[in-house]
Amino acid sequence: MLNSCGLSTPLLASAVLLFYILWSYISTIYFSPLSAFPGPRLAATTIWWQVLQKKRGSMSKTLRDLHMKTGQTIFRVAPNQLSFWDPDAYREIYINQKFLKEPDFYGAFSLPLNTRSTFGHYKPELYTPLRRQAFTLFSRQSMVSLEPLFHEKLNIFVTRLPSGKEVNLFDAFRCLTMDTATQFSFGTSSECLQAEDFKAPATSVYDEYASGLCFRLYFPMFIWFLEYLPRWMKPYWQRGYSDLKQSAIVALERYRTGSRDHKYPVLFAYHFETNSPLTDDELCCEGATYIGAGGDTAGITLSVGCSYLARNPTVQEKLVQELQTAYPIRNDVLTAHWSDLEKLPYLSACVYESLRISVPVAGDLPRVVGPRGWNFKGVAIPPGTIVGCSATAVHLDSSIFPEPEVFKPERWIEEDGSISKTLESWLVSFSKGPRSCIGQTMAMAQLYIYFAAFVRLYRAEPAHKDQPVVLYDFFTTIPEDGCCNVVLTPREH
Ligand code: HEM
Repeated sequence: MLNSCGLSTPLLASAVLLFYILWSYISTIYFSPLSAFPGPRLAATTIWWQVLQKKRGSMSKTLRDLHMKTGQTIFRVAPNQLSFWDPDAYREIYINQKFLKEPDFYGAFSLPLNTRSTFGHYKPELYTPLRRQAFTLFSRQSMVSLEPLFHEKLNIFVTRLPSGKEVNLFDAFRCLTMDTATQFSFGTSSECLQAEDFKAPATSVYDEYASGLCFRLYFPMFIWFLEYLPRWMKPYWQRGYSDLKQSAIVALERYRTGSRDHKYPVLFAYHFETNSPLTDDELCCEGATYIGAGGDTAGITLSVGCSYLARNPTVQEKLVQELQTAYPIRNDVLTAHWSDLEKLPYLSACVYESLRISVPVAGDLPRVVGPRGWNFKGVAIPPGTIVGCSATAVHLDSSIFPEPEVFKPERWIEEDGSISKTLESWLVSFSKGPRSCIGQTMAMAQLYIYFAAFVRLYRAEPAHKDQPVVLYDFFTTIPEDGCCNVVLTPREH
């Protein structure tokens, strides 16, 4: 059938579609308010460039390469998104409370989709009460009560570590931090430390979860659909999440009925004790977030930090000497207190340097520019633009951290032995400002206690000396296979 233009209807429809695609392409490149910003052409026209980068874990590296090659500091990474490679931008975006979290990105972390949780919510009236409620749980006082939990898990960890044979520190430390995080959240442990060769299903669920994040981000309806499929048809990470939720429900029932069986602070018990307004679904989501946010990140820092120590025998030896002086009896380190360990300058420097170089949360933390727009160093950023800057951009900036690729704990130590306040202000592993990490105290207590024990008890050597430490950015960091593998020898004294 021909219409008045003399074209058949399917042909006309195809022409209109083609025109629409061409117009969208041309308008996002040439007529968008972000047209003037440099970046890959594909990124300016479609979200697929970003999906691909996130799927490969290469976003931070690609942006760094672009920055090194062009000297530019602002890149268009999606039709409506800019990424800044400038430490000053980090401070403006995150510290000043100017911008809110990008709702779609953070909604994708919450299962069922968009459930209320401290991490996932962007509205101040919703996240502020949750953050406020958690302050007591994460106070320094509370960390003292949690130390027996850290010591208990540490003692299991050291009995499971093999000597004289290759061990993957990324798997091993994550089992330790995951068991700590589950025990803390639910009052029961995921028992990852019992897994053969530290290959625990619970940790691989989080890896799959991280690499599948790009799909959840861009196709939330697909995830919503997956939630209604029978278990056998669900992807691995979603089955893992269902199992985690099942453990959460059992734990919730225990604490709802008033169980007081816990020896140390427990997130769920605390929620009931403080009459939290969260529903069961919300509490499960909160628990899963705490496990992911706390278990994964601390495990990455420990494994990457210790892999660098294994590659730097002089640094390792210097740290051992400090620890041997503080803990002359070898096994006393297994019950060391965070408050004592913090006083050791070289250990502190190693913890800070590990947090810097491992960049546990490597990617941009996306925020939305408010209705009045934003002027950054004379450049006008339109309202509604999604903006972000990564910790990688700050931690690898050579004007702040000279030779940023080198593991150099000495850079942190002032003449009086204290940690440099200036450098500390540039350590953004926990982010900064109103949405910074709520579990920072718990993370630091674990890092000190676990690092000190590992180094005091074992001499570590890299299993593959020529393989550098290579890290991928899946929002959280995942090291390249094998680069965190070491061979351990127990220290005799
Ligand atoms: C080395 C360990 C850790 C690192 C590097 C780390 C890093 C971060 C970062 C960068 C953020 C901000 C994320 C964003 O704005 O998108 C964050 C938020 C958060 N972290 Fe951590 N974290 C660690 C350990 C923990 C622990 C142990 C817990 C709790 C058990 C925890 C719970 C949270 C929560 C609940 C938030 C959300 C806060 C909010 O959005 O208001 N983290 N963390």
